[in-house]
Amino acid sequence: MTAEDAARIERAVALLRAGELVAFPTETVYGLGADAANPAAVAKVFAAKGRPAAHPLIVHLSSAAHLARWARELPPEAERLAAEFWPGPLTLILKRQAGVADAVTGGQDTVGLRVPGHPLALALLEAFGGKDGGGLAAPSANRFGRISPTTAAHVREELGGAVALVLDGGPCAVGIESTILDLSRGQPVLLRPGAIGAADIARVLGRPPQAATGEGAPRVSGSLAAHYAPRTPLRLLPAGQLASAAGQVLATGGRVAVLALAEPTMQKAGLEWKRMPAQPAAYARALYASLREADALGCAAILVEQPPGDEAWLAIRDRLRRAAAGAGDGNGT
Ligand code: TXA
Ligand code: MG
Repeated sequence: MTAEDAARIERAVALLRAGELVAFPTETVYGLGADAANPAAVAKVFAAKGRPAAHPLIVHLSSAAHLARWARELPPEAERLAAEFWPGPLTLILKRQAGVADAVTGGQDTVGLRVPGHPLALALLEAFGGKDGGGLAAPSANRFGRISPTTAAHVREELGGAVALVLDGGPCAVGIESTILDLSRGQPVLLRPGAIGAADIARVLGRPPQAATGEGAPRVSGSLAAHYAPRTPLRLLPAGQLASAAGQVLATGGRVAVLALAEPTMQKAGLEWKRMPAQPAAYARALYASLREADALGCAAILVEQPPGDEAWLAIRDRLRRAAAGAGDGNGT
């Protein structure tokens, strides 16, 4: 860490202690952080995002050593998963400790916890709460229902003056939000797929997690169909249908953006064909910036090639399906 970074972190900590918001990089996406023990600061997060207050936030910690301050009745699975994957892109839902603010948990008896794997985030969390176990409540730093930011510039586009400081840690290495695993109900349940897959979790726990059923109230806002959405209508299509669908949009006089795994099969004025990485980790890293770019072109449609159907692409398929379901409404849902 440079002397400049150290000075920025000192300023960030002072702002957070004063109840202000600080956006910070993680390995997944940028977070919009507030002191998790300060309900007035947490309320500012909901206001800045335009997010309904009943949606719980993830509390970010500097280390698993502070788990017991935030969660009670820690199951042995939590310790094992934390030892294996933290710092890293895994959020654990655990029974909340007494005193954890309702503003953070949305009034639920559980709390989401994670130690992020980014040097600047860890330095910030260590400086903020390393001694007393303080944590930062931080959702993705986007307006509600929109694409998560993977660069500091994206955060400024999304939130502008609503955030006191944006720490710039470069582009996020993972690029999609953390895997969320619920350990509060006995049987581990996968609430949101991410870079850490069911097979990785099964390797540590000796059994695969259950898939979330999607019943009842949306405890995870990422489980709403319309999420992670660009403004431009987005359609998922098999590779063989991209060219004809693009041709149809062009015929109506509109521009069209295509995100495909293959090289362009056609070239025409008004067609922006972007070749996406063939490996899922690289694809995930590029996904949100690519959607943002495509969205900014003012196209009539974004056409995305359906990614492969195997487990390694599960989290990407999940985000693209939500983007397709939520695109085009022009505001967060
Ligand atoms: O990668 C990530 O997880 C990023 C970075 C910043 O850490 N954060 C993130 O936060 O994606 P957010 O708020 O955009 O998404 C977190 C999801 C929400 O859908 C929320 O409903 C869910 O986690 N969540 C948080 N606490 C929960 C709880 N106690 N029970 C169930 N779901 C919870
Ligand atoms: Mg989010």
